[in-house]
Amino acid sequence: MKLLRLLVLLLILPAYAQQGGMWIPSLLKGMNEKEMKSLGMKMSASDIYDVNHSSLKDAVPQFNGGCTSEVISSKGLLLTNHHCGFGEIQSHSTVEHDYLANGFWAMSQAEELPNPDLEVTFIVRIEDVTTQVLEGTTTITNEKDKQKKIQENIANLTKTLPKESWQGNSIRTFYEGNQYMRFVTETFTDVRLVGAPPSSIGKFGSDTDNWVWPRHTGDFSLFRIYANKDNKPADYSKENVPYTPKYFFPVSIGGVKEDDFTLVFGYPGKTTEYLPAVAVDQIVNSLNPAKIEVRDAALKIADGFMRKDQAIKIQYAAKYAQIANYWKKWIGETQGLKKSNAIALKRAYEKDFLAKVTKAGKQAEYGSLMAEFEKNYAEIAPYALSRDYFIEVVLRNTELLATAYKMYQLEIAFNRSGEQSFNDRRNNTIAALEEVYKDFNKNVDEKVFEQLIELYGTKSPKQFLPKELINANYKTLTTEIYGQSKLTSYSGVKELLAGDAKTAIARLNKDKGYQLVKALTDAFNANVATRYEEINLKIASLQRTYMKGILELSPKDARIFPDANSTLRVTYGKVDGYEPKDATYYKPVTYLDGVIEKYVPGDYEFDVPAKLIDLYNKKDYGRYGENGKMPVCFIGTNHTTGGNSGSPAIDARGNLIGLNFDRVWEGTMSDIHYDPSICRNVMVDMRYVLFIIDKYAGAKHLVDEMKVVGK
Ligand code: ARG
Ligand code: ASP
Repeated sequence: MKLLRLLVLLLILPAYAQQGGMWIPSLLKGMNEKEMKSLGMKMSASDIYDVNHSSLKDAVPQFNGGCTSEVISSKGLLLTNHHCGFGEIQSHSTVEHDYLANGFWAMSQAEELPNPDLEVTFIVRIEDVTTQVLEGTTTITNEKDKQKKIQENIANLTKTLPKESWQGNSIRTFYEGNQYMRFVTETFTDVRLVGAPPSSIGKFGSDTDNWVWPRHTGDFSLFRIYANKDNKPADYSKENVPYTPKYFFPVSIGGVKEDDFTLVFGYPGKTTEYLPAVAVDQIVNSLNPAKIEVRDAALKIADGFMRKDQAIKIQYAAKYAQIANYWKKWIGETQGLKKSNAIALKRAYEKDFLAKVTKAGKQAEYGSLMAEFEKNYAEIAPYALSRDYFIEVVLRNTELLATAYKMYQLEIAFNRSGEQSFNDRRNNTIAALEEVYKDFNKNVDEKVFEQLIELYGTKSPKQFLPKELINANYKTLTTEIYGQSKLTSYSGVKELLAGDAKTAIARLNKDKGYQLVKALTDAFNANVATRYEEINLKIASLQRTYMKGILELSPKDARIFPDANSTLRVTYGKVDGYEPKDATYYKPVTYLDGVIEKYVPGDYEFDVPAKLIDLYNKKDYGRYGENGKMPVCFIGTNHTTGGNSGSPAIDARGNLIGLNFDRVWEGTMSDIHYDPSICRNVMVDMRYVLFIIDKYAGAKHLVDEMKVVGK
């Protein structure tokens, strides 16, 4: 019996040990390639990334800076998430043509819709430039000067490293400043909207299901890249033609099953996997709870109004979703860090690290690191907390304060660079605020302000607050500001900013709302920001040394991956269910039956379009179904984060099987501590995507454009 358990353990352990990590695509040969093959991959590292031949990376552009997308036809057809294309879909929507509610399908290329602010960026090649970036910096001991020199070198290299005229150069740091890589890029700016399902498919389950498994969302949308006649990047023009890609993904309808190899290729934004325990402790016990409490209050108020008033519901839908997304993430993250004992595990890791330091005789370099971390994190604690309150209350969640803050930037610009600078910015600010006020409701914001300003005044470190907030009567303050400030309407804002700079600034300074933001910002800058930056710089340099130590003292084959930094990465694993708690096992695949189970007629999150119900009742799934059922989503052990949305999920042979869009609730702490037993990424099955395009939308011409394989 014992022997059997040991055997089972031995079988399971290596498989898990091979998972987690976001790897640099140009460095997969060796350890990663071996692991991927042992997990079932049938490709080679150079099929994924190659500079001399086309490879998978040529089909994976970053989508508008924050998401990922993939090319799926020889005519530049591009797939990403519905939530990544949301802004574009919304911007083309009107009451008569509500593409968010009803979906949009271009039935010919002439019907595809241009998007002036949208761009996608391909990676042409990746090169190590560490030596050049660090040139002349090793002798500089002052951290600030050292960073300055590094930034100068980067600016210089970005300008001078050879590339074609239509290409870009970008240099990024890896391993917290221990390695630098240069990316040659190609950015396309004529990207048109081709198709999107209605929100009742593309956003099915909305916030209730967000970060949750089992999931039933068809989170996809389609675009097309256009290029000039030479197939090079060009701004929108009628003359542009569909882009011919160097590579595009074949789409598989072969289906997925438990244990299948999966690879996710995309642009993960930010992780902090190598934080010391003391930093994680601060996140779990101080920073996350504070941010959650602020957003909790803001969301409850907005929700109350949205449920009663349809106009407010529309005005606040996108804002609500955005605030709710990370609110929910932080709650899951905090729980997950506690449940997986992340702090204790990190402490044990640090003890082990120090033992290695001693053994290697490197005490002088690394011996005091942990003590230094403790000291600096203790010191930064109140500043970090104050900073989070300022960001959450003033910049993110109270609209009047955020607006006033933007206007204060005009006064600062005037003081720094004079009238012209004020005038230049004023026009942009006025234009930007018009959009903001379209979706602004004074009653909602007033209630939010009242609660958030009280949280700020009573829960953030008192020693840094301006006198206006200490022992204030928050109710009176609220009535005063929302009764008197001109910032509660767009016309008021224009009135405040009218005339020459001096007059406008004098007028602003008489406004109650403006006065408060100025006091809050000045206090924040004087008492918090500068000191925070100083300590943070110190912490960053400790983190760089810690990372260097980890790299130096770990075994050669140790799986040490660089934190995410919005650059192209490969992560791999397999299709796998999980056991989030005792006696509960989640299977890895969901079906359309689950959509129907969740269906609540007319509900804003769980309504289902009649046509989809009809297809379900008739089991009319065409070649996309599987044994009379329609697969919808699946999960895997791929290590992903924000920015991986829209990433291709690829099978052992390089075919597209899914579209990444989320993670499971119990594993949202994976940005700080990846636990392979419960961290899973969530993908839409490509069969569901094709089924919706073909059977639901009747846009079969788009499927015909793809190379469909399998079955
Ligand atoms: N949680 C996913 C991600 O972080 C999906 C977010 C979509 N937004 C939403 N509020 N449902 O981006
Ligand atoms: N939903 C995320 C995104 O938009 C992905 C994630 O955080 O897992 O990038």
